[in-house]
Amino acid sequence: MKFFADTADLDEIRELASMGLLDGVTTNPSLVAKSGGDFKETIAEICKMIPGPVSAEVVALDADGMIAEGRHLAKIASNVTVKVPLTWDGLKACSTLTGEGTMVNVTLCFNANQALLAAKSGATFISPFIGRLDDIGLDGMELIEEIREIYDNYDFRTEILAASIRTVNHVKQAALAGADVSTVPPATLKALVKHPLTDKGLEAFTADWAKTGQKIL
Ligand code: G3P
Repeated sequence: MKFFADTADLDEIRELASMGLLDGVTTNPSLVAKSGGDFKETIAEICKMIPGPVSAEVVALDADGMIAEGRHLAKIASNVTVKVPLTWDGLKACSTLTGEGTMVNVTLCFNANQALLAAKSGATFISPFIGRLDDIGLDGMELIEEIREIYDNYDFRTEILAASIRTVNHVKQAALAGADVSTVPPATLKALVKHPLTDKGLEAFTADWAKTGQKIL
């Protein structure tokens, strides 16, 4: 499974990229507002750090506006992935932009039929929002499973990008359900390494090593 960082924070992206952990980045208007940076400059910076897809979201609500914004954003770098919402106009924009060779991430997906439409429209990525479905008492992971089955049934090449990931368990479940990508907030990505027995074991090794009085360097 590929890891994307779900953030517009340049320092966080830099650290994760330096470890070779990142296959891409996703941003959205809320994350850009949180980072406080200039949108297009931020996207350009991220694209320099990460060779993989970097999602930049349009804000127009009509297809023509989305297409114009998408074309503008796509000029920033060859790895810009234009993110459009899962609306009728968003699907029109997806179809046009993918036809021009631009990668498109269709976002705000909350059911399997929406995902089917996105794949039919040629989306590079579909972004089902797991956490927001869980928030309203539904099962976000069930949606990933349904989309996986549908895409496999018809051999759709659209990649399932599990989004709105809030917990380490979401990451594991998305991997088990066959999501192609998980886009994860950096804090959650770092939390994947944690296990109390790892800490306990390391504590014991450190204490026993001290008893030997030896040094490696
Ligand atoms: O990738 C979409 C993500 O940023 C939304 O996450 O936690 O706001 O539902 P959240």
